[in-house]
Amino acid sequence: MKGLLYYFSGTGNTKWVADILKKHFRNNKIDLELLNIEKVDEIKLNQLDFLIIGSPVYAEMEPKIVDNFLNKLPICIKNLKTIIYATQGGKSSSAPAIIAKKLKNKGYNIFIEECIKMPNNYYFLLNKEPNINEYDKILYNAECKVKLIVENFIKNNKLKKENSLIRIKLGKTCGNFFRRMIPKISKNITATSECTKCGICLTNCPNGNITFEDGKAVFHSKCMMCLRCIYACPVNAIRYKGKKIKQVQKDRIKEVIK
Ligand SMILES: Cc1cc2nc3c(=O)[nH]c(=O)nc-3n(C[C@H](O)[C@H](O)[C@H](O)COP(=O)(O)O)c2cc1C
Repeated sequence: MKGLLYYFSGTGNTKWVADILKKHFRNNKIDLELLNIEKVDEIKLNQLDFLIIGSPVYAEMEPKIVDNFLNKLPICIKNLKTIIYATQGGKSSSAPAIIAKKLKNKGYNIFIEECIKMPNNYYFLLNKEPNINEYDKILYNAECKVKLIVENFIKNNKLKKENSLIRIKLGKTCGNFFRRMIPKISKNITATSECTKCGICLTNCPNGNITFEDGKAVFHSKCMMCLRCIYACPVNAIRYKGKKIKQVQKDRIKEVIK
């Protein structure tokens, strides 16, 4: 049996879950290949037994980069079994249901839709201090959920959380509003003079939104608010609203930057 997992991960959480899924499928002698959608030119779904889509949640919905990928997915003629998971700071979101609807319309057989709580990388939106003491427990619970996904999938059990239509509608409204606000919100991201111009933010920005001009990092208008630049900066020189951010994704972001 062979599966393919396409993911986008701004700061490493969604990739962390992808790695744990791979581990648990491997424990069951099932091969799972992981592919970062940022690096995918051609989508190949031949000779696959199942497909997994992993996405972070931005204001209740999947980010636009995931949407663009979903639009490119071919129509499915063989009713491919599909698992959708979203990682978020809260317990649940509308994202898996929104993604599932798009894939169902293309003929995919949605088997599992799951929300997996991970550390909130946007904790500072509400000026909150992150509670790092909770992280071990959050990661432990996330792994338990992954185990459950794999067990149910192998036993051919469908696993879906029924979201109310109102929740999904509200989620879409909230997500689309947020998308429209991104050009304005992203202006809150700036670099200080501590920046050493190492270029890590520049080479790892999924939208190629950062350049150096006159010796300074400049953030242009294509930001998607993935926050990778903030967490990847080796000297923590990137600010949000002028504030220094605790780099709580340090451990997990390593897996998504070069
Ligand atoms: C722009 C933005 C919006 C977010 N919105 C939500 C949200 O609506 N609900 C939530 O629970 N978490 C939200 N989060 C937290 C992330 O979904 C969460 O930390 C996720 O696991 C990050 O995954 P990644 O590290 O793979 O990018 C948001 C994060 C960002 C950057």
